[in-house]
Amino acid sequence: MSKPSFKTLADVIAHRYGEGTVGNGHSGADMPADDPLAEVLLRRTHRRYTDEPITEDLLDVLFATAFSASAKSDLQQASVVVVKNKEKREAIGKLIPRMPWITAAPVFMVWIGDSRRIRRICELRGKPFGNNHLDAFLNAGVDAALAMQTFILAAEKKGLGSCPISVVRNHVEAVADILELPLYTFPVAGLCVGWPSQEGFISMRLPPKVTVHTDRYDDWDLNEELAGYDKRRDERFAMPEGSQKMTDTYGVADFYGWSEDKARQVSTAEREQLGRFVRARGIRTD
Ligand SMILES: Cc1cc2nc3c(=O)[nH]c(=O)nc-3n(C[C@H](O)[C@H](O)[C@H](O)COP(=O)(O)O)c2cc1C
Repeated sequence: MSKPSFKTLADVIAHRYGEGTVGNGHSGADMPADDPLAEVLLRRTHRRYTDEPITEDLLDVLFATAFSASAKSDLQQASVVVVKNKEKREAIGKLIPRMPWITAAPVFMVWIGDSRRIRRICELRGKPFGNNHLDAFLNAGVDAALAMQTFILAAEKKGLGSCPISVVRNHVEAVADILELPLYTFPVAGLCVGWPSQEGFISMRLPPKVTVHTDRYDDWDLNEELAGYDKRRDERFAMPEGSQKMTDTYGVADFYGWSEDKARQVSTAEREQLGRFVRARGIRTD
């Protein structure tokens, strides 16, 4: 595919979502293509990196930026474990051999939902912790996700690429053991970081008509919107027949779009053990 050229932000948006799918089809037409928002609109995950290391100084700066993210009630319930030890990194990589970027990336870290620190603070201040329920779990997970995404955007601003790894949660107990995660902490996602060795590609998103609602939730036309989205995505990057999932169960589809792919992906259970793991860490989920 030839490299797209953009005159305005509307062109950039069309590249991310497909022509005419956002607002009146002209939203962003009065903004230049080099508007700072274009950096976010054109962002992408990178899974292949050069061997060039990332300096400690830059990493320090990126963490300082990441932890500037919003934090629920200023409780600051995110932590990150940078996996520098070679054996530990390889042990995590071995658990997930189909994602070799975990061991190949110059830097690998795991973002942690941290409901421990505030409980320790209560202890230190001689107060009970009166919020051991599902909301505490959600708040810590959200804080960690926000800090991770802030790290990702900051890294991208410096020319780095990254790839979150939720699959660490498929092996949540082993990963928690390797990283010596104490009670009330849980891994949200790993993150590979490095200097991209390939350009990567823009993954087209669902149209805002599906994701942005006004005054009330409304998905009456989901089926029709999905049909259009599947077609637009397919026109840009058709999935080869060999990459269709679970053909033994569902057969080979004549037209295999995003919605068929995702429906097949989630048709079998994954990570059913997570609730048990979180409860064993002392966090209530009721
Ligand atoms: C929380 C989270 C977990 C993810 N886990 C994985 C993963 O385990 N392995 C992987 O290769 N990509 C993973 N990704 C990357 C997504 O596949 C990617 O963001 C998605 O396909 C959209 O592509 P884009 O970021 O380039 O727009 C994850 C992304 C997020 C936000």
